[in-house]
Amino acid sequence: MIQTAFTRLMGVDHPVVSAGMGAGNADGELAGRVSEAGGLGVIGASFLDAHEVAEMINRAREITSYPFGVNLLLFSNEHLLEGVLGANPSVLSTAWPRADQDLKSIFAKAHDRGIKVMHMVPTLDDAKKSAEAGADVIVAQGTEGGGHIGLMGTTVIVRQVVKAVAPLPVLAAGGIADGAGLAAALALGAQGVLLGTRFYATTECPSPAAWKQAIVASDGHDTIVTSVPESLTGRDWPGAWSRVARTRFVEEWLGREPELRRRRGEVWSALERAEAEGQLDYRIHHVGQCAGLIDAILPAGDVVRQIVAEAEDILRKTLPAMVTADPIRA
Ligand SMILES: Cc1cc2nc3c(=O)[nH]c(=O)nc-3n(C[C@H](O)[C@H](O)[C@H](O)COP(=O)(O)O)c2cc1C
Repeated sequence: MIQTAFTRLMGVDHPVVSAGMGAGNADGELAGRVSEAGGLGVIGASFLDAHEVAEMINRAREITSYPFGVNLLLFSNEHLLEGVLGANPSVLSTAWPRADQDLKSIFAKAHDRGIKVMHMVPTLDDAKKSAEAGADVIVAQGTEGGGHIGLMGTTVIVRQVVKAVAPLPVLAAGGIADGAGLAAALALGAQGVLLGTRFYATTECPSPAAWKQAIVASDGHDTIVTSVPESLTGRDWPGAWSRVARTRFVEEWLGREPELRRRRGEVWSALERAEAEGQLDYRIHHVGQCAGLIDAILPAGDVVRQIVAEAEDILRKTLPAMVTADPIRA
């Protein structure tokens, strides 16, 4: 077991969290299995309707009696907040607020119901603001991550945030897929890790098998940071870039974002046609660099157990064996 301030605060066995990937990528099944295995599973509620979110929460509850969380991308999903809090998850997981949103009052609504708040940030300034607003846990997310990200690398932003918000527990996110990543995050002062891409490539993730297989096939060098997805969707994602696989679709539109914004309607239709025809490389696929560390689609519970077992081994054996009082030089 690896116990940290995070596991003690949340009442979970392992300092491993699955990201609340929105739009149906992290449902009650995935979150429930992660929590049942001793991690903290998080449902991604963003861009769904309240009924779908309620069903996902019910499914997680059927699978586990242990804590799980629900994630909201604040900038465009605050209308779901009351429903999510009403369902009483253990944790409200949040990210990407607009500048005009009042984090303090959002977090207070969760706290009033005894729900803990875990807020993800891409910058040091955002970390300080969310600590002041009352977050219980801060997730420091580095640019290696899949999905929407900032530009700071994980090793730097995690360490900076750990120092800035102490004694608040910090989780490391971005580029972590195995026990070595967990051990490294703990060495940086984080109290656990939050993983998206790794949990996308699990049996339970409801996304199509071919998209998961693309993660297994990737060596991690084929992702790119871009704003092509936002030019397509028109979503004003405050301060974020997108890390996506460098698919044929992305290649086609890189550097042509203004034209993409103008031709949005017809491009959407082309994407839908490509999906119907099974053209797997003509799409947007949010994926992190750690795809290069993932070589199998596994059950989510196995992912949790493997990460912890590997990290324990590194912390107990590999690293202590390196520390010695004996000099090499004679
Ligand atoms: C497909 C996908 C969807 C994501 N959706 C969300 C989301 O809805 N809300 C959120 O806070 N983070 C989301 N993220 C980002 C994760 O929370 C996390 O920061 C990131 O995946 C960490 O990097 P990793 O992919 O290297 O593990 C998403 C990530 C991926 C890969």
